[in-house]
Amino acid sequence: MSIPRLVFVTCIFSLGEIALAAKLVTYIFGDSLTDVGNNNFLQYSLAKSNFPWYGIDYSGGQATGRFTNGRTIGDIISSKLGIPSPPAYLSVPQNVDALLKGVNYASGGAGILNDTGLYFLQRLTFDDQIKSFKKTKVAITAKLGEDAANKHFNEATYFIGIGSNDYVNNFLQPFMADGQQYTHDEFIELLISTLDQQLKRLYQLGAQKMVFHGLGPLGCIPSQRVKSKRGQCLKQVNEWIQQFNSKVQKLIIKLNRGLPNAKLVFADTYPLVLDLIDNPSTYGKISILSLTLCSRLFNYIQQQCTHFSIAVFLQVLKFQIHLVVM
Ligand SMILES: *[C@@H]1O[C@H](CO)[C@@H](O)[C@H](O)[C@H]1NC(C)=O
Repeated sequence: MSIPRLVFVTCIFSLGEIALAAKLVTYIFGDSLTDVGNNNFLQYSLAKSNFPWYGIDYSGGQATGRFTNGRTIGDIISSKLGIPSPPAYLSVPQNVDALLKGVNYASGGAGILNDTGLYFLQRLTFDDQIKSFKKTKVAITAKLGEDAANKHFNEATYFIGIGSNDYVNNFLQPFMADGQQYTHDEFIELLISTLDQQLKRLYQLGAQKMVFHGLGPLGCIPSQRVKSKRGQCLKQVNEWIQQFNSKVQKLIIKLNRGLPNAKLVFADTYPLVLDLIDNPSTYGKISILSLTLCSRLFNYIQQQCTHFSIAVFLQVLKFQIHLVVM
């Protein structure tokens, strides 16, 4: 069985009921894994992907602000759901008709914590994204009236994929304060308690059907592998990520119990992506070469290496999974 299928069986099926029952309006929150162009509107952001060779496999072959050669996971899920991929929030902030069809607030470099990705100068943190969503709600409520607007937001599906940067562009960076200041146990408590508040805020704004994408094995991305002797995955980092994923799952159970009508789902991508890395040949023609190449070579000459390199490309299926880190 191919990886895309596995991913979709896991992600979509667990939420199939949710998504298909609703009118298929989706609101997307996240980082570079799902950004579809918000950062292009942030003039001073260093987390940009609007230049070659991003987008070479996207329709038109041009960079769009997606941190990938092709489509993002959000684009792919939307297409499987039979709906257009929602536009970048900053491309339609005042357009209520567009906002009604769903919006993508994701921003490369963003994290759960405010400080995460600080050195990209500009990015929409998860808190910023929730604030923007609040503005969307105000605009839609003004147009539809309170009851219809509440119904609209209760029926929509919310995809959230955030947390990778809190590791890669925060805790794991020796020059950032959090890794010095906190043990991992303390850091994870901070992440989970912050996320708890953020998900509750989304719920209070009307989000009930939420899908949280767990983190992939970040110990296997080039910027981490390069720290090992022979380019292997960092075990400690992967253990931390698994702890994070498991705490998020517990949080989701707690929220589902405590919040009436809340239907949060955890999409566990970790084992799938790890299997893809461990057994690439099982999945057809994959080029994983870049993983090693990048860490050995380009990291030194190409700041953006992490993004290019990690795109693991399934030629046969025209599908890409990228463990991008921004
Ligand atoms: C981020 O900063 C804002 C404004 O200072 C603050 O209200 C908020 O609680 C902070 N959020 C996090 C996640 O630290």
